[in-house]
Amino acid sequence: MKNIFKKDILKEIKKYESPPVIKENFLSKKECKYFLNLFRNMRKKSIGKSKFVNREESTKIFFDFNKNKETKNLRKRLEEELGEFFVNDFQPHLITSRFPLRLHVDSGKNPNDVIYKNVIIPVEIIYDKTKKKYKKPNTIVFKNKWYGESAIFTKIKNKNTDFIIKDKNDKFVDILDIQNFNNKIKDLNNIDFTYHNKEFFINERFRDYIERLCKMKRFNIRTDKHIVDNKKFNKKDYKNYMSHQPYEDCTSLKIYKVIPWKIGLLAYWDRSRIHSSDNFIKNNVLSKTLMALFTSKNKT
Ligand SMILES: [Fe+2]
Repeated sequence: MKNIFKKDILKEIKKYESPPVIKENFLSKKECKYFLNLFRNMRKKSIGKSKFVNREESTKIFFDFNKNKETKNLRKRLEEELGEFFVNDFQPHLITSRFPLRLHVDSGKNPNDVIYKNVIIPVEIIYDKTKKKYKKPNTIVFKNKWYGESAIFTKIKNKNTDFIIKDKNDKFVDILDIQNFNNKIKDLNNIDFTYHNKEFFINERFRDYIERLCKMKRFNIRTDKHIVDNKKFNKKDYKNYMSHQPYEDCTSLKIYKVIPWKIGLLAYWDRSRIHSSDNFIKNNVLSKTLMALFTSKNKT
């Protein structure tokens, strides 16, 4: 791993590190609904791309704590819990995931940033009610730390062109090379197309969507440098939580904390910790939404 932080900054970062924390009922269900509606409504009214990022597998809506009395108060309550904090490189956001996030770290890219805690508040879980059984989603925090820049951890690292999209049957599919996919569909219209054994219905709307993904810039680098030894990941943990990620990608990793989702809980952990969603799709969760912020101890 290439450490990006300056020596004295890294010392500061480590000074503030602590075990993951879970506080239940940090927000009431009513408050969660309030914020959910506030931000979703803001999305409808907002113009311009920077306010939200909408993809098939996730939707992000960025917000500002100075928006109103309630958001200002939310910041105050967070500060009572976390101590003084700043938000530097990435605005607080509401994120809805329809496909599980994979192993990553939100360490940023700034060598002068005293990164502090990743903070999440789950506000909504939508289950597939047509299924008999469903289980709560979990967020998985690993013991393993990373002081390099923000990254996605995988052995498939030579390209930065993979996207999760929906096939004709509304099933999520991982397309490893979106440019290649785009080249193959660009002259097709109103026709079924098979790509790596999956079927897609190509029309103008679909082509525009793929074109848009091709132009998207990725913030996170892709690396497998988190793998530092040959220690295989615990098989039971893999089956329970991580089956949306290739098993080999989990080599060297050890779970520190499983955070079972409850609406309104507050959870936070060091921004240097590798973390991931669990494979909530297999537990019949259609989508999950949380408020997230990446905090720092200095203003950069
Ligand atoms: Fe994250």
